[in-house]
Amino acid sequence: MTMGHEFSGTVTALGEGVTDLVVGENVVVEPYIIGPDVAVGPGNEYQLSADMNFIGLAGRGGGLSEKIVVERRWVHPIGDIPLDVAALIEPLAVGHHAFVRSGAVSGQVALIGGAGPIGLLLAAVLKAEGLTVIISELSQARKEKARSTGVADHVLDPSEVDVAATVRELTGGVGADVGFECSSVNAVLDTLLDAVRPAGVVVNVSIWGHPATVDMQKLVLKEIDLRGTIAYANDHPATIALVQQGKVDLAPFITAKIALDDLVAQGIDVLTHHNETQVKILVHP
Ligand SMILES: NC(=O)c1ccc[n+]([C@@H]2O[C@H](COP(=O)([O-])OP(=O)(O)OC[C@H]3O[C@@H](n4cnc5c(N)ncnc54)[C@H](O)[C@@H]3O)[C@@H](O)[C@H]2O)c1
Repeated sequence: MTMGHEFSGTVTALGEGVTDLVVGENVVVEPYIIGPDVAVGPGNEYQLSADMNFIGLAGRGGGLSEKIVVERRWVHPIGDIPLDVAALIEPLAVGHHAFVRSGAVSGQVALIGGAGPIGLLLAAVLKAEGLTVIISELSQARKEKARSTGVADHVLDPSEVDVAATVRELTGGVGADVGFECSSVNAVLDTLLDAVRPAGVVVNVSIWGHPATVDMQKLVLKEIDLRGTIAYANDHPATIALVQQGKVDLAPFITAKIALDDLVAQGIDVLTHHNETQVKILVHP
């Protein structure tokens, strides 16, 4: 299998009947593997279709190849967005979909638990959409990234402060309007339930490798809405627009660029053992 589901590229050939793209145009793709019978486009929740999977995670080529063939319906032109930056549009779209799922609106306060690549890119979307963003994170390097990129208004370390109490202080005693779980750590989920306001929303972004527990008493007494979010559906146009309009600057999230020959030593090994030192490592095949 060729890995890589976050990628950008240049059109080198067009299939029969494709007339709305041109050879030489830069694009990104929604790397979906979804049956041809599933309707896509606005109003369709195609991310929830049976047997949904991803190019680069389940076959059909991947971003680490020189060339890939994809269906027209997944291709999105990116105009003059540089190709390196555009490789981050896929995870940014994950953040955009989490934002949409939350129902949050400009002027509200969000708490994000975990400032890995997903938490940071979600924060970038929320800032661009006019929210106040509070991030909780343990890692020094990632706290620093949240600060230096300007995607967080407040960065809290749960080993130093009581996150839920601090969020209440920052919100006049009310609590955050929305919370986003981006760490796959149960303690973070618990904190979000404590930190959101009554009738607040908690969006679980994490994909858990183990069962998590939810303190239902916290949920019921505050009428909290707990929601899932998976991937994206019809999020790419708005996500690309955020980058094109300069509302999201993706460049600071590219922390290394490596050649394909260095993939294991400078890519996979680094992410396995020193995850917190990197956000996104770009590989040029
Ligand atoms: N729903 C989706 O469509 C989707 C898509 C992509 C990734 N994900 C999931 O999103 C999650 C986040 O992805 P990632 O790549 O950013 O992961 P990551 O592991 O790089 O980041 C998690 C962060 O949480 C921090 N953390 C750990 N314990 C903490 C604590 N007690 N308080 C605060 N922060 C704490 C870690 O230091 C780390 O920086 C993963 O579970 C991933 O599988 C979901």
